[in-house]
Amino acid sequence: MNDLDPNAYVEDRSPGTGRLRPRAAFASDLPTLALDGDWRFRLASGLDDLTGDFSAPHFDDTAWDLLAVPSCWQMSGLPGEPRYGAPAYTNIAYPFPVDPPRVPRQNPTGEYRREFNVPDGFPASAAVLRFEGVDSAFAVWLNGVRLGDGKGSRVTTEFDVSAALRPGRNVLAVRVHQWSSGSYLEDQDMWWLSGIFRSVSVAARGVEDFFVRATFDHTTGQGTLAVDVTAPCGALLSVPELGISGADPAGPYVIDSVEPWSDEQPRLYAGELVSDAGERIPLRIGFRTVAVVDGVLTVNGRPISLRGVNRHEWHPLTGRTLTEDTMVTDVLLMKQHNINAVRTSHYPPDHRFLDLCDEHGLWVFCEGDLETHGFEPDNWHRNPSNDPAWREAYLDRTARLVERDKNHPSVIVWSLGNESGTGANLAAAAAWIRQRDDSRLIHYEGDFASCAYVDLYSRMYIGVDELAAIGRGQEAPTADPADDAHRRALPFVLCEYGHAMGTGPGGLSEYQQVIEAHPRLAGGFIWEWLDHGIARRTEDQEPRAFYAYGGDFGEEVHDGAFVADGLLFPDRTPSPGLVEYKKVIEPIRIHVDPAARQFSVHNLHHVRDSGYLDFRWSVEDRGDPVGSGDLKVPTTAPGATTTVEWPAEVAAALDAARENGSGGEVWLSVTAVLVADESWAGAGHEIAWAQGLAVAPASCSVPSPSAPALAHDGHVTLGPAQFDARSGELIRLGGLELGGPRLDIWRAPIDNDLLNAFGEPQITAWLDAGLHRMRHEVLSVEPDTQGLTVTARLAAAGSSAALGVVYRWSVGDGPDAGQGRLRLECTVTPDGAWSVPLPRLGIALSLPGTDAEVEWFGLGPGEAYRDSRNAVRVGRYRSTVSAMQTPYVRPQENGNRHQVRRAEITTAVGTLRLTGDPVIDLTVRPWSTAALAAAAHQHDLVGDGRIHLHLDHAHHGLGSASCGPGPSASDVLAAVPTVFRVEFSTGR
Ligand code: GAL
Repeated sequence: MNDLDPNAYVEDRSPGTGRLRPRAAFASDLPTLALDGDWRFRLASGLDDLTGDFSAPHFDDTAWDLLAVPSCWQMSGLPGEPRYGAPAYTNIAYPFPVDPPRVPRQNPTGEYRREFNVPDGFPASAAVLRFEGVDSAFAVWLNGVRLGDGKGSRVTTEFDVSAALRPGRNVLAVRVHQWSSGSYLEDQDMWWLSGIFRSVSVAARGVEDFFVRATFDHTTGQGTLAVDVTAPCGALLSVPELGISGADPAGPYVIDSVEPWSDEQPRLYAGELVSDAGERIPLRIGFRTVAVVDGVLTVNGRPISLRGVNRHEWHPLTGRTLTEDTMVTDVLLMKQHNINAVRTSHYPPDHRFLDLCDEHGLWVFCEGDLETHGFEPDNWHRNPSNDPAWREAYLDRTARLVERDKNHPSVIVWSLGNESGTGANLAAAAAWIRQRDDSRLIHYEGDFASCAYVDLYSRMYIGVDELAAIGRGQEAPTADPADDAHRRALPFVLCEYGHAMGTGPGGLSEYQQVIEAHPRLAGGFIWEWLDHGIARRTEDQEPRAFYAYGGDFGEEVHDGAFVADGLLFPDRTPSPGLVEYKKVIEPIRIHVDPAARQFSVHNLHHVRDSGYLDFRWSVEDRGDPVGSGDLKVPTTAPGATTTVEWPAEVAAALDAARENGSGGEVWLSVTAVLVADESWAGAGHEIAWAQGLAVAPASCSVPSPSAPALAHDGHVTLGPAQFDARSGELIRLGGLELGGPRLDIWRAPIDNDLLNAFGEPQITAWLDAGLHRMRHEVLSVEPDTQGLTVTARLAAAGSSAALGVVYRWSVGDGPDAGQGRLRLECTVTPDGAWSVPLPRLGIALSLPGTDAEVEWFGLGPGEAYRDSRNAVRVGRYRSTVSAMQTPYVRPQENGNRHQVRRAEITTAVGTLRLTGDPVIDLTVRPWSTAALAAAAHQHDLVGDGRIHLHLDHAHHGLGSASCGPGPSASDVLAAVPTVFRVEFSTGR
């Protein structure tokens, strides 16, 4: 501490003073005093507003507020008004002028006080005070004695309190500064939040530290165990299952045939350290060996494939303060969705999360609390990563990462941090890790150009072509031949891809195919697990809930909804993106081959055979179940494929459907479900599935048009349909009032249309072409003896490019004619220069109603688009218009049901039936596209009394352009001559 300026620690680059050396997080039976709960709190506006004597034990704080510890102070008061400051969101930019290590003098500072009682018998003379997370810098006084200060928001800091702690009343005072020199190292893409946001405790001091080293030799099946213990006295190790009892922890113990730890079989051996002083420390030991073999990432001698996600710690009400229940929810949801890996982006998580990864089985890339991205806009000028003045801070963060989490078998890779450029401090951090822990690999994406100090070649957001080139070892060389040789020998990881912002991401299966084709590609991590929306409510008389994003708290600089880019919505409901990812990364791939009357099962697991799965078949005729049963599939080893002939029951069910069925599509489905409960899901939970079209529908003849269209009184009547004679609009069908249909090419822009991290967003070309303001000009309405022809032209003001459209309406006299099926054939012909893709191509119409029942036969049950359609299956589904809206935090195009064959939309006044020819995409909503596009939050969406239908021939793909590539060429919707058809009828 600087005597002249007691607050100098805020801006100096030192990681802290007075702290104990970092060590492992572990449980012990020595007494601990939890200091979580309500603390006295005052928020000072800055260093000029501090409370002079606040650390004095007898300072009267009774007038101060109470604030929960742990918590983020800006989250207090939510979902109403924040009580202290407000959350602020930026991705790259620092929310203050960049002048390292200086931060604004207007530096909100939380003054915390807490009295606590030390009971008799508590070993006050040998105790530590532990802070598991304080954002961003803090100083601590116990009973008026200054213990020290610390930085590193998401690392653990401990102080020796032996001299200051006493039995009975104690007073702890902590000053927490929102900004500090440390803020320059903590520029992660997330909300800026402050406070004591993880637990605080006082713990008796016994064993200082230990390092469990447990390796597995796959050639012999032997495990080797050694535990380095640092303790003031001796300690003995027991692992009853391994026959180790009261032994020297140092070993090493070579154990024949241990069961190794893996994500799929997270075998943990329970052990214990008992110190000579009687302290007991439980251990959970997992044997595993991580190695790069011939450029392939292996664990326990076998390649692994990371099917991962990037996980920030987030809760919509409490910010970065999480309960253990929330952590359990995350881990179980990951496991239930076939996810096997997590990168703790971009800081060490609450240590309890890693216990759960050990227990349930997830490969972990454990990342340091480091990001200096805000220096990139100035070309990394003054970047701390390459400035010797910051070296100690880098090494301190790195040591605190490794030391705290070194005993977790789930952690297979240390990641130095994220987006911090390159430099000597990163190299030094990597070198420090290498000498401390040679059992794990080192990752840091920012070093991709040379990979000089890492063990994995890692990139983010590259396209599939580049990924495939890397897979083949054909990437462009690095500047330095030695680096190039080194990098070429490394396994590759996509540390971020599939940007899950808004509707999407599209194209995940293309990545997965490339990953599975090349052993060098060790898989990757989707960006990201969870939307960081903040729960708010409107101030109306009847408040409505919504999730806030950047800018909603009046931030001066912010990055809007870029903070809502997860596979889970903020309340942890899976988005369609997560459901898609689960399907794309199935560890068991089933193939149904109707032609060969076979199924095959390909096992993509690392070590698990398929014996933990039950296989079941079912047959549906036009969506109606007509048979199902169990399927015997011989146990399939990892890497193997088993092919099974259809059993007689399947053949019989299909024959029956063929002979006496509906004449419609008959689909055969096979699912693989858990035989027994796992720690993360119950028996019956589905892991994988496949479908095959076993019987194609009988082709139905198109009825020849029979009814004449008759004009009278400004209307044209065609069978059950009535049109406006001037606009050609269908205004009535049977008893149902309708509006439309009209050709429609616009979608409420999705985030992947609006943003492009690497170039011009798609929306620019669309707006330039005027696609959002197309005018529908009716050129002619011509009734004839066989129907009605409406000719129109869709074009934007100022543009000569147009889409000509001919709506040909007819009513057939086939078997259905009595039901009055109205047939529409739409012929679309581009006219002029069309260089932009179309957002969608289809027709829009509406009918009265606030909500409706929707039943359909087609793909479902969820939302799907052309490049995100692996998770949907052919079936008969039922839902409602309101339930078919996907609540993206920022409203945008959503909810499409893909390849619908037939649908019925039933409102209070009647039923509209639709039939695709053969399929049509269906979007239904209680508001218009314009209202959807105009809404900033979910609560802005209010029904307008009509049900809006979009019947689309096709959509432009979703892609991942908000941060990554746009849709691949095959998913671009070009303006080309197109004909599509749909039939309408009514019921009731
Ligand atoms: C990456 C970054 C992430 C996040 C993502 C975009 O560049 O590492 O933290 O910002 O882009 O959402």
